[in-house]
Amino acid sequence: MRGVILAGGRGTRLGDTTRVTNKHLLPVYDRPMIYQPIATLKAMGCTDILIVTGGENVGGFAQLLGSGFTYRVQDRPDGIAGALAQAEGYVDGLFPVILGDNYFSASFAMPDRPTIYAARTERPEAFGIYDPGAGRITEKPKDPVSDLAVTGLYVYDDRVWDVIRTLTPSARGELEITDVNNWYLQHGLMDVHDAPGTWSDMGTPDSLLRAALHVKGAA
Ligand code: TTP
Repeated sequence: MRGVILAGGRGTRLGDTTRVTNKHLLPVYDRPMIYQPIATLKAMGCTDILIVTGGENVGGFAQLLGSGFTYRVQDRPDGIAGALAQAEGYVDGLFPVILGDNYFSASFAMPDRPTIYAARTERPEAFGIYDPGAGRITEKPKDPVSDLAVTGLYVYDDRVWDVIRTLTPSARGELEITDVNNWYLQHGLMDVHDAPGTWSDMGTPDSLLRAALHVKGAA
């Protein structure tokens, strides 16, 4: 099975640490961040992995990981769905996509339908939040209706390319993965499962530290 890691973006919340280096090459305790999403996809059954990143960073990933991976460039950091668009033609049928800055302690079984994974968060204003009643996601809500964050592991099918083509940039100028997921949810084509184990993003100094401590504890 083929899977996709999205490892572009700006990494602004990590300040000067990502001014020269891509966020996903930073250390998480004793290993580069990108090792975490690679391990999650491999545990799910991926034998081939595409890494999408900004043009200025492809060399760093190729130097670290070598020839066992495929690399594609996202010319501008125009959003998570913009990064995913680069994977068209690489994957086929049902496939997993993971954000390069997501840490999961547990492994996932590959589902047989498009799926997103929710986890409880103490910072609902920082994530896409799933409303189980309405069956939709609100991006970074000011008045959250639940504490169910949509994590950065998604399973899509071939419909996703046409859905991405219908997107227009959001107020922050990005093609939003939440719009893709809401399309699937509204059409009854996506399941929402609880994420097993511990989940953390690694995109802020505090969440990066938390993930590093988890990695140290599991090492
Ligand atoms: P974000 O954390 O939303 O964005 P970012 O990585 O640019 O960081 P910041 O908000 O601090 O500036 O991105 C989540 C993940 O998605 C991250 O692992 C990188 C990936 N991503 C892309 O691959 N391309 C993009 O255009 C964006 C915005 C994110």
